[in-house]
Amino acid sequence: MSNKIQVKDKTFAVSIPQEKILSEVKRVAAEINRDYAGQEPVFLAVLNGSFVFAADLLREITIPCEISFVRLASYQGVSTTGEIREIMGLSVDVTNRPVIIVEDIVDTGLTMAHMLDTLKKHNPSKVDICTLLLKPGKLQVDLDIRYCCMQIPNDFIVGYGLDYDGYGRNTKDIYTLCD
Ligand code: IMP
Ligand code: MG
Repeated sequence: MSNKIQVKDKTFAVSIPQEKILSEVKRVAAEINRDYAGQEPVFLAVLNGSFVFAADLLREITIPCEISFVRLASYQGVSTTGEIREIMGLSVDVTNRPVIIVEDIVDTGLTMAHMLDTLKKHNPSKVDICTLLLKPGKLQVDLDIRYCCMQIPNDFIVGYGLDYDGYGRNTKDIYTLCD
């Protein structure tokens, strides 16, 4: 079987096989099980990209917990402050509860920085970030990322929930864009 896939007009090659992904997800889940014992965290998975990661992560969580799914909506600001992101669908009350944000990938970090700011208005007792992937070379803001499964180079990737123009989310492995 070829290790390459075509997604729309682009070709991608396998860069992180399923076995590697799942072993890193298990490692991070074990850290959360240990750190959050007795705390009943609320996992907040950011749609769409994190749906596969969240499903695998949650099945490795053995402590009592809840999960909810949110979306980040972007609005054009009326002032010069630019783009404002709001959290859509925060259906669980996080007041005085520990929250773990579940994200597919942190690139510039701007999305997570906005998410943290907005979430803090809902008065959680604490917030930690749990990301499947991090591109350290692209990070533009100072972010404390407590849980990270894997760090990757600055390449564009798809698969395991991540998309290229809406496509390519439905693969077990992660693929990197070929030049
Ligand atoms: P940030 O605000 O720059 O950190 O962007 C984060 C978001 O950009 C992620 O939640 C993804 O939806 C998207 N993203 C960043 N890098 C990639 C990639 O390599 N493939 C697919 N989506 C990406
Ligand atoms: Mg995302």
